[in-house]
Amino acid sequence: MSEIAFLLNGTPVRLTDPPPTRTLLDWLREDRALTGTKEGCNEGDCGACSVMVTDARGTRALNACILFLPQLDGKAIRTVEGLAGPDGALHPVQHAMIDHHGSQCGFCTPGFVVTMAANHLNGVTDHDTALAGNLCRCTGYAPIQRAAEAAAQAPVPDWLRQATDPAFICPQISRGEAAQPTGGSAPHPFLPRTAEDLADWYAAHPDATLIAGATDVGLWVTKQLRDLAPVAFIAGIEDLRGVSLTDTEVRIGAVTTLADLLPAMAPLHPDFAELIRRYGAAQVRAAATIGGNIANGSPIGDGPPALIALGAVLHLRKGPARRSIPLEDFFIDYGRQDRAPGEFVEAVSFPRQPDRLRAYKISKRFDQDISAVCGCFSIRLDGQTVREARIAFGGMAGIPKRAAAVEAALTGRPWIEATVEAALPAFAEDFQPIDDMRASADYRLRSARNMLRRYFLEDQGAATRVLEVAP
Ligand SMILES: Cc1cc2nc3c(=O)[nH]c(=O)nc-3n(C[C@H](O)[C@H](O)[C@H](O)COP(=O)(O)OP(=O)(O)OC[C@H]3O[C@@H](n4cnc5c(N)ncnc54)[C@H](O)[C@@H]3O)c2cc1C
Ligand code: FES
Ligand code: FES
Repeated sequence: MSEIAFLLNGTPVRLTDPPPTRTLLDWLREDRALTGTKEGCNEGDCGACSVMVTDARGTRALNACILFLPQLDGKAIRTVEGLAGPDGALHPVQHAMIDHHGSQCGFCTPGFVVTMAANHLNGVTDHDTALAGNLCRCTGYAPIQRAAEAAAQAPVPDWLRQATDPAFICPQISRGEAAQPTGGSAPHPFLPRTAEDLADWYAAHPDATLIAGATDVGLWVTKQLRDLAPVAFIAGIEDLRGVSLTDTEVRIGAVTTLADLLPAMAPLHPDFAELIRRYGAAQVRAAATIGGNIANGSPIGDGPPALIALGAVLHLRKGPARRSIPLEDFFIDYGRQDRAPGEFVEAVSFPRQPDRLRAYKISKRFDQDISAVCGCFSIRLDGQTVREARIAFGGMAGIPKRAAAVEAALTGRPWIEATVEAALPAFAEDFQPIDDMRASADYRLRSARNMLRRYFLEDQGAATRVLEVAP
């Protein structure tokens, strides 16, 4: 028997044997009649289902449509129904949305106000970035933006500050109410708290599905209707979380979220941080982990090309046995990775190094979009000669892949325009990209070549970025 406990709008809830892949969105709407939380896309793209989630690490907005019930254990959830104060007083963002005409059909509005309330609580004022994961089809974003700016002037309501204080909510959760059986017939989910626990359990259940942030796995359930049991939820494993720095190494635990990785990368490799800023949207980054971004083996994941360009090593574990491999070697072929049954990603690390990384993501939209091509470059010089070139791409092959022929064409040569131009034909040796709805093969190849040109020009001090050259 497994039991999870959480707070829902301040009320303790205990569930016995929750179906492991039942989403919070379905449970709220079907079991609790909390229908304010809307279903738009059911795949993490639109933010209509945003809820506030608080735990010891703070408060964030997450997409309830790709959040499974066991992921709520030990957390406090606040839906749009729980935003107004106990006396019915509206939250400042609700007032501001009314005053600034931020809603027309209203379908997106609950998701917006919940996300805005989480941002308001956290003092986030970059509304463009923070609201990029909430889509509105009718109002237009200007009134919503004005509402967010106006609400920022008001203090956080006292009752909400208390309700999102971990010191207050944790005892409330553990006090709990009587456990409610959910009638789940699926095998119990496993919720390990240490890497050791996971290693033992996964070695004994090598066919199980690991679920970290569920931003990929969530879609296997909501879109592909797959049955995943048995499952282990690994995002709560504290010794797999966080970024540690030594004089020589940067090590990122597998369950570190992209939201936590961004500020850690900003002072070291600002382009990596900027790439992460364009990764999904705030709700996705708050859930998605770097381990999931690597282990899913996606040819269009944004993390692997940047990490490969930085010379990353992947740390894998099966039971007590550990091994480390260059990250690029993990990706064998489309859908095939060098990971044995029962083996999991513990961490990824790369050497501390002077920053030479540039990361270029090309997608149809600036925010909340998967890359058509993602090119990451780190070219080191000895004087004016190329000493080492590490160039990796997503979207150019069935796997994240190094541009070995291009690297060879640059290495040992003078770092001048003629060398760059002479290296460009080598892209066709490295890559035979596909045509798909994101981009044609020709577009991908041209983009990749132009990225190398761009790297060179930026290195000479030219302003090339859209946001730099905008009027
Ligand atoms: C709306 C939306 C936008 C997105 N935008 C982007 C984007 O811009 N760029 C991008 O790269 N990706 C994007 N993604 C994809 C996804 O967010 C990432 O791939 C994410 O990093 C996956 O991490 P996760 O923790 O959610 O993985 P999960 O969904 O939990 O797991 C993914 C896979 O990895 C396995 N796994 C997870 N952790 C481990 C581990 N430690 N060891 C072994 N196996 C493990 C799981 O079993 C599963 O097979 C987007 C997804 C959505 C829904
Ligand atoms: S319904 Fe669209 S993000 Fe959840
Ligand atoms: S008000 Fe209609 S979708 Fe936003």
